[in-house]
Amino acid sequence: MSESVTLLATLCLADSYSWTDFSEGAARIGATAATLQGSGVGLVEQLDHLSAKGVRQVHLVPVNLTDSVPASWLGRVARWWLEHRPDAQLEIWYTTQALPGMPAALPSREGARVLRPNDSLTSPTWEQVPAVRHHVLVCRGPRCSAKGSSGMLASLGAELHERDMLDSEVLVTQTGCLYPCNRAPVVAIQPEMEWVGPVHESDVIALADQLERYCRDGTRATNRGISPPTETRAD
Ligand code: FES
Repeated sequence: MSESVTLLATLCLADSYSWTDFSEGAARIGATAATLQGSGVGLVEQLDHLSAKGVRQVHLVPVNLTDSVPASWLGRVARWWLEHRPDAQLEIWYTTQALPGMPAALPSREGARVLRPNDSLTSPTWEQVPAVRHHVLVCRGPRCSAKGSSGMLASLGAELHERDMLDSEVLVTQTGCLYPCNRAPVVAIQPEMEWVGPVHESDVIALADQLERYCRDGTRATNRGISPPTETRAD
């Protein structure tokens, strides 16, 4: 393997569903591929692999295939990797602006900068779970994404924000396939273990009303915070 490698990385969960096409496309232009989240070879795993193969320089390039997602987390994870692999002889050049789609040729290094190690994956503000009552899982699996879960997710976030419920009463998270794909787009409400679908953008007001009723009720959910695994098992 060459001592210098271009590493293209997708950023969002939905893009990871195109992992096979993405990694093959990267190989066609002489690059290697990774994903920041979701399916495929993760960034940390790929950096470990390249380092073990004797690669000395990586040009890390963020790529957005569908949604437009800020690239900053890619640099944070790469810096975290450098922090936790002090013996690695790998220099990482990082392009901060995500490319809109798979490049037709190896991207230039113009504007890229060398990353320095620091532990950028923790912060005092990320120590506790938010004091929400409900966790809404919005499926971004292949069927739900095809049937509009991206737009529905954006509308749901905006509606809950408008009602002052987002991240205070309700945490919204996008997930992979939740299984009842025939009812796509699917949403699961926790801790009720309640699956809802299909939920289209036009259903968002009704879903937000439902969540508001649950929050007003107040007896349906207790936020127990976060515990280490041993304490959880002792319950
Ligand atoms: S893809 Fe959404 S439930 Fe399967």
